[in-house]
Amino acid sequence: MMKKVKYAILGDPVSHSLSPAMQNAAFKKLKLNCKYEKIRLPLTQMKSFFKKVLNSNYQGFNVTIPHKENVLPYVDVLSLEAKLIGAVNTLHIQEGKIFGYNTDGAGYVHSLLHEKKWAARNKKIVILGSGGAARGIAVALSLAGAKEIIFANRTLAKAKKLAQEFRRKLKKTKWNFSSLDYNELRKIFPKADLLVNTTSGGMENNTLAPLPLGSLPSRALVSDIVYRPAKTPLLKAAQKLKLKIHAGLGMLLHQGALAFEIWTGKPAPLSTMRQALNRILNP
Ligand code: ATR
Repeated sequence: MMKKVKYAILGDPVSHSLSPAMQNAAFKKLKLNCKYEKIRLPLTQMKSFFKKVLNSNYQGFNVTIPHKENVLPYVDVLSLEAKLIGAVNTLHIQEGKIFGYNTDGAGYVHSLLHEKKWAARNKKIVILGSGGAARGIAVALSLAGAKEIIFANRTLAKAKKLAQEFRRKLKKTKWNFSSLDYNELRKIFPKADLLVNTTSGGMENNTLAPLPLGSLPSRALVSDIVYRPAKTPLLKAAQKLKLKIHAGLGMLLHQGALAFEIWTGKPAPLSTMRQALNRILNP
């Protein structure tokens, strides 16, 4: 019998990850002899881990907090998107080489397409936050043809730095930045086709400053990448104003589906994977 091919999520901590359930459900559905595990990897053990990995049954990994940048030195071939984002969430081992990808941003864009029939081409977008998640989403939206992207962040300097970096690297999109000041946002929101929250301020215990959602145009889509709770305070407020909303679970699903497709070369069984996530989140 062929040896089981193994995959894993690398992070520290990893105990709460939903990826094993989602990926193992997909392997089972397609009857693949594969197994997906969780590996808690302290930074101090990373070097020895990657030394051994080429002689193991592992053929791929997802990478999560805090290692999305830490693993970069071990990647032999980096995708264009991962290079622009400056972080990877997916590794694929092939013929003794480690290939690095970032499916977070593309997963987000796929989720908008699949769930909301929403395409980024020529759209104007406001991204709340300027951390790693904002970078991933911004790069993918820009590559998908976004016309303008504005980073709005609590720490203005971070938003400015990011906008300036992408002005140099992704010239087809117009890049801007703002604070989270209510009156500043009131000037920006009327032209936004999409408002997406990438900050942990969307979670129940960590509240975002009040936002002038009433200044968004009626066509706007309000999106939150936070998936616990499914309907964040931001999404609830948007819904009250009769705006369209897009929840965070789709990004988790589609980043996983894209990783699955990189590893197996087969279309991901999306509904099986979504069911696996829902079974855990809504038991
Ligand atoms: P991630 O990888 O999840 O993006 P990160 O890189 O630490 O995490 O970035 C977190 C983002 O959430 C930052 O933009 C942060 O704002 P600052 O740059 O001002 O720190 C933002 N953030 C976190 N909590 C927030 C809150 N309560 N209100 C507003 N922004 C918040």
